[in-house]
Amino acid sequence: MTARDFGEALVLGIETSCDETAAAVVRGGREALSNVIASQHDLHAEYRGVVPEIASRAHAERITPIVKRALSDAGVGLPDIAAVAVGNRPGLIGSLLVGVSAAKALAWSMGKPVVGVDHVQCHLIAGLLHRAGSSPTAEAAFPALGLVVSGGHTSLYLVREGFDLQRLGGTIDDAMGEAYDKVAAMLSLPFPGGPVVDRLARGGDDRRFALPVSRGGDKDALNFSFSGLKTAVLYTVRGVPGAREAKPLEMNEASVADVCASFQRAACEAVIRKLSLAHERNPQCRALFTGGGVTANSRLREELLAWGRKRGVDVRLPAMEFCLDNAAMVAAMGHDTLAARGWAGDALTLTARA
Ligand code: KG4
Ligand code: ZN
Repeated sequence: MTARDFGEALVLGIETSCDETAAAVVRGGREALSNVIASQHDLHAEYRGVVPEIASRAHAERITPIVKRALSDAGVGLPDIAAVAVGNRPGLIGSLLVGVSAAKALAWSMGKPVVGVDHVQCHLIAGLLHRAGSSPTAEAAFPALGLVVSGGHTSLYLVREGFDLQRLGGTIDDAMGEAYDKVAAMLSLPFPGGPVVDRLARGGDDRRFALPVSRGGDKDALNFSFSGLKTAVLYTVRGVPGAREAKPLEMNEASVADVCASFQRAACEAVIRKLSLAHERNPQCRALFTGGGVTANSRLREELLAWGRKRGVDVRLPAMEFCLDNAAMVAAMGHDTLAARGWAGDALTLTARA
């Protein structure tokens, strides 16, 4: 039995792994009929990071209305749903448990299967999703490479049939999105920093500051590192501690834009470098799946597409609404997992794994 044998089945996806409460209805694992995302950014902004206790409380308050919205946006009712999928790993334990409990309760009450899926795998399948009414995305060939770049992850994978992942490497310190958020903080820009840095960088000079392109510790390893780059940005902004000549950067619109652009150039180049190394070591891969919040970045998107054209690799960038944490990707992964198992769900002892 293949993933495509359940072509029309509607799966309700639920995602609560971090600070987005999300629900979506997806047909046949690929066509999103709805994709509702309630972000908690406003609740965490003053702490400049996600506070786990606040996150789980907000998920508990929002999950029921968000699921109802996902059903009504899709124009369907609970009896139309064939299964419930939930991201049950990895993430903040209290947050994950809200989604898992909701998914199990719904599935049990409907007498339908529930399936727990891996959040990282979900980010990689996001590039196969399309909105109802838009043209479907062609399936990509396996084995492929996988790149997840978000606030919590920066990893490279070998992706086999069924989104079976073998990790090739990842960050040895900060995640790429985390570096964006910290650089934004240094420049007194709002949280989350990624979208703002991306926007300001477009008007900046990306060569004004010669920031280091990281080798991820060992130049031959498929790892990333963003903490050196982050420190270099800090010294650029505040001056090098102890250095006689060093003065803090005069902060104005142009210099902030130049820091954003120079940081973004170095961060993107580090990703492309390791991606190239991964492809040289795995030339059998003719496709690249990408996902995670940072794949919404305009420069990274352009560079990834250009990289793919040069190497003859089919690069799958998720549509913008499927880059950040969302439940459509969870429903898609749940669909394929269930289809591969003849639609047998997980036991109701399913739990969350941090
Ligand atoms: O995938 P995601 O929603 O959550 C995690 O699983 O972490 O990613 C959130 C991260 C944040 O760090 C945010 O700053 C970053 O993605 N991000 C961006 C952009 N949009 C979101 N980074 C760079 N450029 C963007 N346009
Ligand atoms: Zn994520």
